[in-house]
Amino acid sequence: MDNQTIFPSLIHGGDYNPDQWLDRPDILEADIRMMKKAKINCVTLCVFAWSTLEPAEGEFNLQWLHDVVDRLYENGIYVIMATPSGARPRWLAEKYPEVLRINAQRQRMLFGERHNHCYTSPAYREKVRIIDKKLAEEFASHPAVILWHISNEFSGECHCPLCRDAFRSWLKNRYGSIDRLNHAWWTAFWSHTYNDFSQIESPSPLGDSSLHGLSLDWKRFVTAQTTDFLVAEKKALQEGGARQPVTTNLMRDFTGLDYSVLAKEIDIVSWDNYPFWHSGSGSTGSDIEIAYETALQHDLMRSYRHRPFLMMESSPSSMNWPPISRLRRPGTVPLTSMQAIAHGSDSVQYFQIRQSRGSSEKFHGAVIDHYGGEDTRVFAEVCKTGEDLAALSCLAGTQVDAKAAVIADMESRWAMEAAAGPRNKGLHYREAVLKSYRALREAGLNVDVIDSGAPLDSYKIVAAPMLYMFKEGVPERLRSFTEGGGILIMTCWSGIVDENDLCYEGATPHALTNVLGLRFEEIDGLPDGVTNRFVRAKDADINGKAAGEDDLNLPDSFSCDTLCELVRLEGAKALMVYGDDFYAGHPALTVNRFGKGAAYYVCADAEQALYTSLYGEIAARAGIAPVLKDLPENTCAASRTDGQYEYIFAGHYAPDCVQIKIPQGSEVLCGNKDGILEGYSYIILRRISS
Ligand code: GLA
Ligand code: ZN
Repeated sequence: MDNQTIFPSLIHGGDYNPDQWLDRPDILEADIRMMKKAKINCVTLCVFAWSTLEPAEGEFNLQWLHDVVDRLYENGIYVIMATPSGARPRWLAEKYPEVLRINAQRQRMLFGERHNHCYTSPAYREKVRIIDKKLAEEFASHPAVILWHISNEFSGECHCPLCRDAFRSWLKNRYGSIDRLNHAWWTAFWSHTYNDFSQIESPSPLGDSSLHGLSLDWKRFVTAQTTDFLVAEKKALQEGGARQPVTTNLMRDFTGLDYSVLAKEIDIVSWDNYPFWHSGSGSTGSDIEIAYETALQHDLMRSYRHRPFLMMESSPSSMNWPPISRLRRPGTVPLTSMQAIAHGSDSVQYFQIRQSRGSSEKFHGAVIDHYGGEDTRVFAEVCKTGEDLAALSCLAGTQVDAKAAVIADMESRWAMEAAAGPRNKGLHYREAVLKSYRALREAGLNVDVIDSGAPLDSYKIVAAPMLYMFKEGVPERLRSFTEGGGILIMTCWSGIVDENDLCYEGATPHALTNVLGLRFEEIDGLPDGVTNRFVRAKDADINGKAAGEDDLNLPDSFSCDTLCELVRLEGAKALMVYGDDFYAGHPALTVNRFGKGAAYYVCADAEQALYTSLYGEIAARAGIAPVLKDLPENTCAASRTDGQYEYIFAGHYAPDCVQIKIPQGSEVLCGNKDGILEGYSYIILRRISS
């Protein structure tokens, strides 16, 4: 496997804002001293520095930045240079009011906050082009600069006349004629037929908000326009001579954009990781739950480009924006930093290096706090992280080899969640993806998290939970994957609509009924608190009971809630059936052999234990070796490889002490040689790749 890296070792760093301290040269010197102590080797500059870089239109002030970059570089600290477009200076909004967004209610915003520019405005694009080009001209050849960080956390939408016009052109380009659009959006319903593209408005509570095709295409357009804005910034940097790779920082669980589109335009994916550790969120309230949720996000970010990513931000202490700001328990900064590395990150970066004195983030965690000294608990945790990262530089650029994948598709999610029915109180798509993901990880497998357009050839197991929308080519790919020997696990409410959100006519899951050996008949939305059960199929219940090799060794019963689908078997065998209600005895979990592979169907929203047992059995039968065997509770493992060696990480996400078995032939690179994991700690092993 090729090593792919932008930096010869793992990056340890974070957002740094010397622009807030220009009258304090002593601060820069103190910061550099402390950064070196913590083995911080790279900082991200200028994320929101526009008003300092260009205090008035066309007046540039970059000398301070040259001084800072030089001084950092002299001290062995590299730079990720950001473009400052995430927050505009006041003069810009005053002179060009079109840069201010208009909301869905058609109100123009005032100047303020950040992340709120109109991404269509030619005036904004031009001013951004100028400052980006200028930064590139001044810093593209500086040896300290290793990467360009475009803007910050792109998000939001604008409904101004410029954006609405751009939307109409985008639609014209997509559909060609208004008749085709009318058909795709099914506008004869409620007499919504358009005569011309000029009549189209963006979705609004004042107008249309339940025309599903419109809402879906608007989200696609917002992604396309934001991506176009990003590409324009990339070009401006290149115009200024920049040759370094570019990134933009993505967010956790963000549904405002389809990141799979945006990620194609950046060289390196990076993201900002702010889990609510110790907060009691997640279904069990335990940190292991949050560890799996976070692992999924890391794997999703890595899978966009199938290469190492960067954890661009994380808090070394608490965040100041959740409802309650919990401190990180001792040990968790190194542990969760190493979790990022385990899943394919080439960096551990913090927001922020030095805490600001004023304004909205003055109580957000930082490497250096207002006290300013080295003798703090947080600084010690950061130093420990820096030590370990420095010892692991061989990991930079190594890859993750995953034989299993979970499909998580944003367009399908948008369509499913916008639709009225079958459960407007929540379909729990995010949780459905997490259940399959967690079960595969619990089975000891590395997992990719891919969109429905991704190739499947390299996997042995593919989970497609609640894949509501089958875009062109999706059922064909799933079919040939299964036919060729793959194991497909699909769950309810799949293959219902096409990519325009039009329901498929005929049997569903569309074009896969013979792969799954069944067809959808009805779906029951369960009120909160109401449950049903999966029980083992008995001969008396159903003719299609699984036997022989199909009869997995599953426990007798599991609970399920939210959605129960009723299917008609057309060749599949039932492994489990419903235990209650008028559909007791109807199939709840099925299997169908197809070609050289097999397709499982989970008909309801089952509890985690069902997935854990099912995927555990499937992985064992498929003969895929787990990363590590027999892990203690609250412990999970992941691995990276450089082709020659496999690097195995085991992390323990609870305060108690446990022990893992160190497999023969492995060497302990980091942590206890006997495999003892104290509370919130980790062990890293190395062995020859098999
Ligand atoms: C985001 C932003 C940062 C900062 C942090 C605080 O990730 O990118 O500028 O506001 O949140 O958690
Ligand atoms: Zn706009």
